[in-house]
Amino acid sequence: MEKKAILQRFPRSPDVLLALLHELQRANPQNYLTPEDLALAAEYLGLPLSRVRDAVTFYTMFSLHPRGKHVIRVCDSPNCHLFGAWSVVEELQRLLGVGVGETTPDGLFTLELTSCLGACGVAPVMMVDDEVFGNLTPQKLREILARLKEEG
Ligand code: FES
Repeated sequence: MEKKAILQRFPRSPDVLLALLHELQRANPQNYLTPEDLALAAEYLGLPLSRVRDAVTFYTMFSLHPRGKHVIRVCDSPNCHLFGAWSVVEELQRLLGVGVGETTPDGLFTLELTSCLGACGVAPVMMVDDEVFGNLTPQKLREILARLKEEG
């Protein structure tokens, strides 16, 4: 969807800043916000560019750098840590062949860490794009990645 069409779906209110940034990021195939996106959001909402940039750098769901088509974010908060989050990260690194913060050479996956995703009862947890996965095991990770690769 064109960026201007995205803007017009939102009221010109600072309250919608995060939702608007989320949509602008989603519209970019490489899952990130360009300097032009930030300027568009600031101008449309009548906010200083610095406020938009502050929001983008504060929330880990936003990126100012190109990422993979699918962004895998493993919860790194204490509860998930206790239930094996680091084993999940190690298995994903092994399966994807990249480290945290890196993107696979085919541009399909970026691996990141995040704070609590609010699903502590099913730790360890990760989020892939907008979908949350819990009770992760090496087998489950392999199945999730296989499905995503199949989908392209
Ligand atoms: S600590 Fe991981 S989802 Fe809450």
